[in-house]
Amino acid sequence: MNTKIVKIDMNNIDESVICEAGNIIREGGLVAFPTETVYGLGANALDEEAAAKVYAAKGRPSDNPLIAHICDRKMLASLVRDIPENAEKLMNAFWPGPLTLIFRKSDNVPRGTTGGLDTVAVRYPDHPIADRLIKAAGVSIAAPSANLSGKPSPTLGEHVVDDMSGRIDMIIDGGMVGMGLESTIIDVTTDPPLVLRPGFITYEMAKGVVGQLEIDQAILTKPEEGFQPKAPGMKYRHYAPTADYSIYKGEAVKVAEHIAFLANEKADAGMKVGIITADQHLKLYKGRLNEKIEVVSLGDLDKPETIAGKLFKALRDFDKCNTQFIFGEAFSEDNVGWAIMNRLTKAAGYNIMDV
Ligand code: TXA
Ligand code: MG
Repeated sequence: MNTKIVKIDMNNIDESVICEAGNIIREGGLVAFPTETVYGLGANALDEEAAAKVYAAKGRPSDNPLIAHICDRKMLASLVRDIPENAEKLMNAFWPGPLTLIFRKSDNVPRGTTGGLDTVAVRYPDHPIADRLIKAAGVSIAAPSANLSGKPSPTLGEHVVDDMSGRIDMIIDGGMVGMGLESTIIDVTTDPPLVLRPGFITYEMAKGVVGQLEIDQAILTKPEEGFQPKAPGMKYRHYAPTADYSIYKGEAVKVAEHIAFLANEKADAGMKVGIITADQHLKLYKGRLNEKIEVVSLGDLDKPETIAGKLFKALRDFDKCNTQFIFGEAFSEDNVGWAIMNRLTKAAGYNIMDV
């Protein structure tokens, strides 16, 4: 398939491109587009055949449901059976924005979109291109992250081109996304609601709005064989770089010493090695590393959003350099740090050690 790749400036949107993309979606085709979290791979959420194409393009297991993206509350009403009070509160506080809610689905939504479930995930993105595209399509857009299944989510148009070229009809390249981590997912079909995936809307922020809030066990621990998390996607290997990635937790100086030792050992043996750190810790590695080791800072520890924004790109860049071993520092799990460590821990296959 020939994939049309178009760059758009989110501050000066070319309506003719949006119009063309909207037509593709309406006619059952696939368009990748930017949102404020990560790039999405969009299809008509009400068209089962279009949803099947999304699974095929991503190489994604078809029991892993898609998120339906909307551009107003009217669209929400057509997708869901009811709107619980807690949902109303969360939507008023955080929509449009990086929050996905799980509702009981209406009969309009085919099971092909929801991975066979009776519930549907809905998100109202806060991004001008996503918003214009959903309006132009005139239907809600089912969109998983626009990466090949198992790979880190795309935060740049070129990541989507790397993964999806030749597999979908169109890629809208709107530059770098703002946040770089997928939306927080909260199931509002239960009371109290349940967090299924951490994100930029933190546990504390959501709890402040609904009062009581629980956390799905799958986020907190490594899922046992056969365990069924409530978000089916949480059971799959995710965000994984090709390299053997391990994370070290503890006092910063000791962690850096330990990482430097392990990294040198591999690099001296001729392996391609990377280190993941933060701005404040770069000095701890100065002068003590094999010069072939690639040291990458994800950003400023005092501004965790910078770390979130660079994380998936860093993992992809290591893949591009054929890095074989990545030794990474653990970060604080406070607030958005919880989402950062959730993604890194999965990327490392739960290979996390105390120093
Ligand atoms: O920020 C985001 O959410 C991005 C952008 C594109 O909007 N999308 C995204 O989609 O991350 P995806 O498909 O990569 O992740 C969706 C997650 C999966 O873990 C899936 O299992 C879960 O949401 N999910 C979807 N529908 C669900 C449902 N009805 N019940 C429980 N979990 C659901
Ligand atoms: Mg994904």
